[in-house]
Amino acid sequence: MLVLDVYDIRAILDKVGFQDFFLKLITTLEHDYKNWDHFDKMPRIATHFSYGVLELMPTSDEEYYGYKYVTGHPQNPTFNKTTVMATGQLSTIDTGEPVMISEMTLLTALRTGATSAMAGKYLARKDSKVLCLIGTGAQSEFQSLAFKTQFDIQEIRYFDIDPKAMDKFEKNIASFGFKLTRCHDAKEALKGADIVTTITADKKNQTILTQDMIEKGMFINGVGGDCPGKTEMDKEVLNHASVFIEYLPQTKIEGEIQQMPDDFPTTALHEVIKGERDGRKDATEVTLFDSVGFAIEDFSVLKLVYKLAKEYNIGKKMDMIPVMRDPKNLFESFTK
Ligand SMILES: NC(=O)c1ccc[n+]([C@@H]2O[C@H](COP(=O)([O-])OP(=O)(O)OC[C@H]3O[C@@H](n4cnc5c(N)ncnc54)[C@H](O)[C@@H]3O)[C@@H](O)[C@H]2O)c1
Repeated sequence: MLVLDVYDIRAILDKVGFQDFFLKLITTLEHDYKNWDHFDKMPRIATHFSYGVLELMPTSDEEYYGYKYVTGHPQNPTFNKTTVMATGQLSTIDTGEPVMISEMTLLTALRTGATSAMAGKYLARKDSKVLCLIGTGAQSEFQSLAFKTQFDIQEIRYFDIDPKAMDKFEKNIASFGFKLTRCHDAKEALKGADIVTTITADKKNQTILTQDMIEKGMFINGVGGDCPGKTEMDKEVLNHASVFIEYLPQTKIEGEIQQMPDDFPTTALHEVIKGERDGRKDATEVTLFDSVGFAIEDFSVLKLVYKLAKEYNIGKKMDMIPVMRDPKNLFESFTK
């Protein structure tokens, strides 16, 4: 079985580059979103503790079965650990044999950036130039670089309650050619923005966006609200926007729409990508992607890195399943 650690994922990115990796991943995601009906789907299995959440995210298509194990612990940075940590596996469905185990903390950031940018392709104005980020933690650079592959982003306006997180963001993103505008609060950061990504971490219902901050034609990409009791927007923002979701049975539990009545109208993003429903209708509409992260997105990135790792001969081959001369003689694994 192929094992990919964080250094292997870095080696793949060194070969391919961020720009091309995001473009390949967006193509893979669009392919899998078009193939949505052929996937086995379920809401992720979440185990909640007062500190955070531990989740399993399985899915499969006609060839592979994949799952991600992922955590969300907003207080982790105070213990010098990252908020989101993940690993994942890919198996063939015909024999059930695991073919790859991978780190997925980096892959989660890459796939979340790519999914945001893919949603933006259908839901943001094509002439979007100003990106706003509320939250400049671990995911923020990935969001910026992913959107850059789909839009001519000139300026990033950003705010985080932690000034050190903004210092870190500025240092990391300085060489990528954006005009960087540090703001004093979320309201200032949203001024004149075309695309607004909220990507904060706090285990509570926050009101980071209120309706008075929203301008006509904005695309709101709500990423940080992804657990029961963990949201980022006032209900009025949802009431005044066209809301798009990944997988309704999961989003109803975890997304911003957990605050809304059961019959609150939403559109599934895969239907938009398949051309069955409208995405953005005109330049003044406010569109909102209520992102929680769905298993198919992790499956797409696992499949892509499996292909690239084989192409560039990256990763380690490890016997995680016994190699047997006689498949009924498992005991021989201890005696030979
Ligand atoms: N939807 C998805 O697919 C998806 C994928 C990955 C992560 N996430 C979520 O995105 C969020 C961010 O993840 P991360 O890895 O960047 O976490 P992180 O802890 O590294 O960064 C979060 C940042 O949010 C800031 N913040 C908290 N409250 C704020 C507020 N009121 N205003 C401004 N800034 C605030 C914190 O100071 C921190 O810098 C988490 O909630 C995570 O669960 C969602």
